Amino acid sequence: MTTIRLPRISFILMLAALCSISLVKAQKADTLWLQKIDLSKVTQGWGTAQPNLSIGGNALTIAGQTFKNGVGSHSEGLINLDLKGTAQHFQAMVGLDDEAAGHKGSVVFSVLADRKEVFRSPVMVSGTKAVKIDLNLKGVQKLALVVEDAGDGTDWDHGDWVNAFILYKGVKPQVVGVIPSVKPYILTPLESPKPKINGAKVFGVRPGHPFMFTVAATGTRPMTFTAENLPQGLTLDSKTGIITGVLNDKGETVVTLKAKNSLGTATRKLKIVVGDKIALTPPLGWNSWNCFANAVDQDKVKAAADAMVKSGLINHGWTYINMDDCWETKPGSTDPKLMGEPRDANGMININKKFTDMKVLTDYIHSKGLKAGLYSSPGPLTCAGFTASYQFEDKDAQQWAKWGFDYIKYDWCSYGTISKGETVAECKKPYIVLRNALDKVDRDILFSLCQYGMGNVWEWGEEIGGNCWRTTGDITDSWSSMSGIGFKQNGHEKYAGPGHWNDPDMLVVGLVGWGPQLHPSRLTPDEQYTHISLWSLLASPLLIGCDMTQMDAFTKNLLTNDEVIDINQDPLGKQASLVSKDGGLEVWAKDLEDGSKAVGLFNRNTTKETVKATWNALGLAGKQVAHDVWRQKDQGTFADSFSAVVPAHGVKLITLRKAK
Ligand code: GLA
Repeated sequence: MTTIRLPRISFILMLAALCSISLVKAQKADTLWLQKIDLSKVTQGWGTAQPNLSIGGNALTIAGQTFKNGVGSHSEGLINLDLKGTAQHFQAMVGLDDEAAGHKGSVVFSVLADRKEVFRSPVMVSGTKAVKIDLNLKGVQKLALVVEDAGDGTDWDHGDWVNAFILYKGVKPQVVGVIPSVKPYILTPLESPKPKINGAKVFGVRPGHPFMFTVAATGTRPMTFTAENLPQGLTLDSKTGIITGVLNDKGETVVTLKAKNSLGTATRKLKIVVGDKIALTPPLGWNSWNCFANAVDQDKVKAAADAMVKSGLINHGWTYINMDDCWETKPGSTDPKLMGEPRDANGMININKKFTDMKVLTDYIHSKGLKAGLYSSPGPLTCAGFTASYQFEDKDAQQWAKWGFDYIKYDWCSYGTISKGETVAECKKPYIVLRNALDKVDRDILFSLCQYGMGNVWEWGEEIGGNCWRTTGDITDSWSSMSGIGFKQNGHEKYAGPGHWNDPDMLVVGLVGWGPQLHPSRLTPDEQYTHISLWSLLASPLLIGCDMTQMDAFTKNLLTNDEVIDINQDPLGKQASLVSKDGGLEVWAKDLEDGSKAVGLFNRNTTKETVKATWNALGLAGKQVAHDVWRQKDQGTFADSFSAVVPAHGVKLITLRKAK
């Protein structure tokens, strides 16, 4: 029986094989239009992707031509596709949507096939004709469609993929969500009840100006603070650790601070520099915009100051409580709270009815050992349309100083209607005017330039007396926005240093929402570790953007890791730069004052990957001890490289010091 059955079976198998071969041969390719994929899984720096519409919700239009099919995106935009090995071909046209006409949007489109760039467009601005993409996808497994900012900030980067489709044979390619969700996990070790002094190790003040520095210390209370070698003119409150006074003579003093409780005594040196520079380390604080925006009011600001203390953040060096826009009156508004004369009879700026008394408010903030910040614009109106400083710069600087403010964020916005273009000279002009006004008041007011990077502000921000300057447009709590901004900072490192910092915008961890409604940051836990690690490496100002009265344990863990904060506050004041890159795997490093290096091993890809930092790339030689910064423990000695498995969109933050 077997002798008869075998040939029959093999004949049937042969027939089946032949049929399937001819079936494959005959199989027609199917078309997957880009607008038909699950758009809830794509990401972009702003807005929501919708089928056949621009990101602004209009018909897709590039250089006057309207397209029926496609998907509108926004830098940093990412569409990730799993091609299942069945894709044959990809075609699309790309360009900046006409809805961005008259604005300064500019984007670059790129396509990655299995992580290799196979297409890159020129810089596309408003009016640039759509560019065609035509790619063979045979054998490709993964396709990424990317819209990048072209280097001038992400504002109005409305990039369109039109007439975009994949031809495939067999299983349909699928869009993959960026990364699977991970539960928040805490890396920062529990705080010790023993005393420990944290925060800045160097502090600058101008001669004759009020001095205030709070010794940041963790450990159980009561705690007693003392200081050896405190210069004459300063006094230390032994219960609170707040040092106040005035120093009239230029020069440096190294003070030995002590914090004592029932469990012991901590000692740390603080260098006080009386001179022309302030902000010798990047400012650490909170700003009202990313949580409350328009909904900011006096109670919320007071509550933020209370929360900074109650949560213990103040014990890690966090200092500023900054009000952003919307504290002034709003010309033309019919909201009784915002209506009113912009200025008084003497030209001094008025506050709106959400606030009762700025001096009382800053006194309250100062009484807690914190500092106060405010916001204005060099134009006639702020970005949100409130009264601003144009032609009242001297008066405003006087008023802010009289009120007791320590920080001013000065936001370009409506100055665009005054300036004659965006040449470097025009960009500098209003900031020089305010610098001169600030120099006339007898108070140290940290000067924060906000003009989104125009005229390469990093190249001249220091020269015109800025203490920090925004290098980008506004951040939002999305991976594409945060990572797009953060990883674009390479090259700016040479412009940062004590007293002058690049500012890639405020933090988007915790409860954010641009008020009144708040939501938990849409960044995954790993993305939030990346955010804080990268901003610390970049020596960026760290301004918390969440509602601090509602911080969960995970958010506190992100903001209270003293070793991470130390990287940001390192007295050498170096900003990290990119030292090696392998696709989405990037190693960033910065030198620290003690001769060691802080190194971030970042994984920008959507799956777990091994990231390697070589001594060669880092400029190191000999054995190095790797120290895990988030976990605050050594990880061993390594001969010529350090590798770590890093989660999708995550980071491994280490320091490397020479082994003994
Ligand atoms: C601009 C700034 C933001 C914020 C708002 C306030 O958009 O970039 O950080 O200050 O204005 O209106």
